[in-house]
Amino acid sequence: MKNNLESIYDNLVSKDAILSVVGLGYVGLPIALEFARRLRVIGFDIREDRIEMMKQQKDPSRELPPDDFRGCDIMFTSDPEDLRKANFHIVGVPTPIDQHNLPDLKPLMSASKTVGKALKKGDYVVFESTVYPGCTEEDCIPILEQESGLKAGKDFKVGFSPERINPGDRVNTLTSITKVVAGNDNTALDNIAKTYEVIIEAGVHRAPSIKVAEAAKIIENTQRDVNIALMNELSIIFNRMGINTYDVLRAAGTKWNFLRFYPGLVGGHCIGVDPYYLVYKAKEFRYHPQVINSGRFVNDSMGFYAAKQLVKKLIAASKNVLHTKVLVMGMTFKENVSDIRNSRVSDLISELRSYGVKVVVVDPYADNAEVEEEYGFSLSEETGSGYDAVVVAVSHEPYLKLTEDDFTGMLRDGEKGILVDIKGIYRNKINRLDYWSF
Ligand SMILES: NC(=O)c1ccc[n+]([C@@H]2O[C@H](COP(=O)([O-])OP(=O)(O)OC[C@H]3O[C@@H](n4cnc5c(N)ncnc54)[C@H](O)[C@@H]3O)[C@@H](O)[C@H]2O)c1
Repeated sequence: MKNNLESIYDNLVSKDAILSVVGLGYVGLPIALEFARRLRVIGFDIREDRIEMMKQQKDPSRELPPDDFRGCDIMFTSDPEDLRKANFHIVGVPTPIDQHNLPDLKPLMSASKTVGKALKKGDYVVFESTVYPGCTEEDCIPILEQESGLKAGKDFKVGFSPERINPGDRVNTLTSITKVVAGNDNTALDNIAKTYEVIIEAGVHRAPSIKVAEAAKIIENTQRDVNIALMNELSIIFNRMGINTYDVLRAAGTKWNFLRFYPGLVGGHCIGVDPYYLVYKAKEFRYHPQVINSGRFVNDSMGFYAAKQLVKKLIAASKNVLHTKVLVMGMTFKENVSDIRNSRVSDLISELRSYGVKVVVVDPYADNAEVEEEYGFSLSEETGSGYDAVVVAVSHEPYLKLTEDDFTGMLRDGEKGILVDIKGIYRNKINRLDYWSF
């Protein structure tokens, strides 16, 4: 086997070297399996229960079918000792925020420790977790060096390649999205780029530095967050004016350079989280971001805002709010996925409950045990009937075909009942019900 620092790509392709993926969630597992169709791979995760499922060709995140595991040269393990056999480590562990919206780097620091302990001369480490610019070099490399007793650049190489997959998206997939790659020197960049080119059909973009690649990822989501916030703010204004926001957006969208963004609840672990990483780092440079924070404020308020609009409608319909029952359809953070973490539908539900409204929640994709653990309430299996209002909070596919008659059947007051359509799915299709959307 040739010296890894110069020739890791050749050694991986000839299967003399092994690639490991540390953290096998939404991001890590698809990457591990894609590489495992061409290279030798070790898939490592601290969760033994998840590893056991993957050994049985089951994706714990319920994104990939068993077919995706076929023909893969991969060993799943939760034993950190196994990582010593690998030479090119990809880290894809979570980078959440804490209850004060500050970066929680514990999983990343812990994964860096694990990889650092397994590191040998000639190895590569590439981080894929979304972080603020500077995190890889200032926070992760010192841990790798300390745990391994080796020197970054001289003994091992480091890179960063942000992940851009979009859960539930069957069109823009891992291999069809251009991958940004960066390395701590030219040798690293060249080898990391060639390694990703093995699986990424869309090709790779070689960023000039690790910080640039980190910043690129964080602004992709920050840009979306701020633009959605603008749409949300517009929808609050137009609601007061009695104008339908979607009608306005359709009219404005006929101009060639009008950007297509829509109002909605911004949840999940990317768009609603990543801007806080940039805000945190900006403050270190004595800059207090105004636009980014304002966007976060608006988007984080929308669940509460929607609940208040509904309560006003219930009162306007002469109902005693304490005796009302509302059905919320959809609990996941976005359509057609099972992930309920950081779903802002929970704000809507808790706000309704704070007024004394009885809330029943259904979701065809969410797992009841996960909802109980995360939010402390259970999903209902049956949609049922006799509701004072129905809120369609997530545009899951089965909900798209519901008609006005379906909702009328669920509502206590039939055609006089209230329908809240958070995503605007039924706009222009509801004629009799008391209808409201962002
Ligand atoms: N989910 C997405 O669509 C998406 C898209 C782009 C980028 N990202 C970013 O990718 C990163 C990973 O996100 P995810 O959604 O895959 O997370 P996830 O929660 O789905 O998966 C993370 C996995 O890492 C494991 N893990 C946690 N700590 C570990 C450790 N110390 N060592 C080994 N394994 C550990 C967990 O058990 C879990 O299986 C985050 O930085 C996220 O912001 C996610």
